[in-house]
Amino acid sequence: MKSSSIKSLLEEATLHQELTVSGWVRTFRSNRFIALNDGSTLQNLQCVVDFEKMDPEVLRKINTGAALRVVGEVVPSQGRGQKIELQVSSLQVLGEANPEQYPIQPKKHSMEFLREQAHLRVRTNTFSAVMRVRSALAFAVHQYFTSEGFYYFHAPIITGSDAEGAGEMFRVSVLDPKSPPLTPEGTVDFKEDFFGKETNLTVSGQLEAEAYAMGLGKVYTFGPTFRAENSNTSRHLAEFWMIEPEMAFYDLDANMDLAEDFIQQVIRYILEHCQEDLEFLEKRLLDEEKSKPQTERSDMPLMEKLRFVTDQPFKRVSYTEAIDILKNSKPNKKKKFQYPIEGWGTDLQSEHERYLVEKHFKCPVILFNYPAEIKAFYMRLNEDGKTVRAMDILFPGIGEIVGGSQREERLDVLTDKMKALGIDEKELWWYLDLRRFGTAVHSGFGLGFERLVQFATGMGNIRDVIPFPRTPQNAEF
Ligand code: 4AD
Ligand code: MG
Repeated sequence: MKSSSIKSLLEEATLHQELTVSGWVRTFRSNRFIALNDGSTLQNLQCVVDFEKMDPEVLRKINTGAALRVVGEVVPSQGRGQKIELQVSSLQVLGEANPEQYPIQPKKHSMEFLREQAHLRVRTNTFSAVMRVRSALAFAVHQYFTSEGFYYFHAPIITGSDAEGAGEMFRVSVLDPKSPPLTPEGTVDFKEDFFGKETNLTVSGQLEAEAYAMGLGKVYTFGPTFRAENSNTSRHLAEFWMIEPEMAFYDLDANMDLAEDFIQQVIRYILEHCQEDLEFLEKRLLDEEKSKPQTERSDMPLMEKLRFVTDQPFKRVSYTEAIDILKNSKPNKKKKFQYPIEGWGTDLQSEHERYLVEKHFKCPVILFNYPAEIKAFYMRLNEDGKTVRAMDILFPGIGEIVGGSQREERLDVLTDKMKALGIDEKELWWYLDLRRFGTAVHSGFGLGFERLVQFATGMGNIRDVIPFPRTPQNAEF
């Protein structure tokens, strides 16, 4: 019963071998040529049937989307476009796909339409290519960190802390929303809840990763994270996968070196292993660009863009320098930015990040030493008393792809900061313990996996690089 994958068949089958192949019909032409795809590769296998010898009932069922098992002989192809094909000797329709009802027909569908068919869209060339690249990138991530001496650490999904302090959390509760138990003061009594306290889905595994780095040395997380921010953009998801390495004894410079090397290596991996899918995605992108106005077109084909990232060092610039550049930039002077740069201390918007990367430096940029006020409580305060050892990596077309920092390892400085921000020390007693016992310089960062996949595949919307996207008002499937 075991079938050969189309990928291995196309790569290594010998002529006149008899093989069994299973897959889904992409097209069926002239009652004779079936283009069969099984997901193992972008390429279809041409299966040739002799319609005169076939049961008309079976023939009628060979439609786009139907699942087939075919047995046949590998022969040189008469037609153009493929070297070999399968001369079918027996064919079984495993599952029909009624052409009146099956939504994925062999024509161009819009991305919006395909999002509504997220359970079927992986049967298109575009989505199967994206998902194969996604899978390869995930493998490359594990390979990279394992070879660099990191341990894979599983951060909890349900937590009691808000690592980023942004308050954008999904509550986890088993209380009845219609009549929750109340405290004497009339607020919801979470002591009665499942965990005996308020809990939420994690926004980041960092705080727990810090605990493990201070024992295992170098760890990384790679898991789902959740943010209830109401951002309907092409770069935000409510559920996304994040990779968070955390390293004892690393300062900010070592952290930046690691982040840069890591991104370059995983992109090199797919350039080497996903050539066919990347070539297809590059062509797709070129077609899409043609329909855009000249000024909005990207001037670089996909693979050139990937090599551009792997072949040169990222530009490192302090926040203060970046603000100077932005303040004196043409779009700022001509009031073209939606958020004009007023002065030092404001947070950068994605329009500013993209200006720095795409117009000014024309390469990936690492911004570091941000104002303490706009960054999370755990970042290490610099000697100037007003900036922290934070770093963000900005990418063309994406904006921020990495956020990281050297962590505040001094107990007194950290508790002062928490007091100032109103963060309860009792909630984070264990995090403070890490500063009480064997504290040391340490650093880490978080890379949004979907933003990396977006960059690697050239897809315009982050919803199209995760199998079943979760966004505001949308958790179908
Ligand atoms: O900059 P962020 O918020 O940093 C952290 O969570 C730190 N705890 C990481 C660390 O130091 N260990 O998020 C890190 C990255 C961002 O740069 C971005 O790539 C991605 O996560 N990200 C999102 N991706 C998709 N949808 C969202 N809503 C995202 N929010 C952040
Ligand atoms: Mg960030």
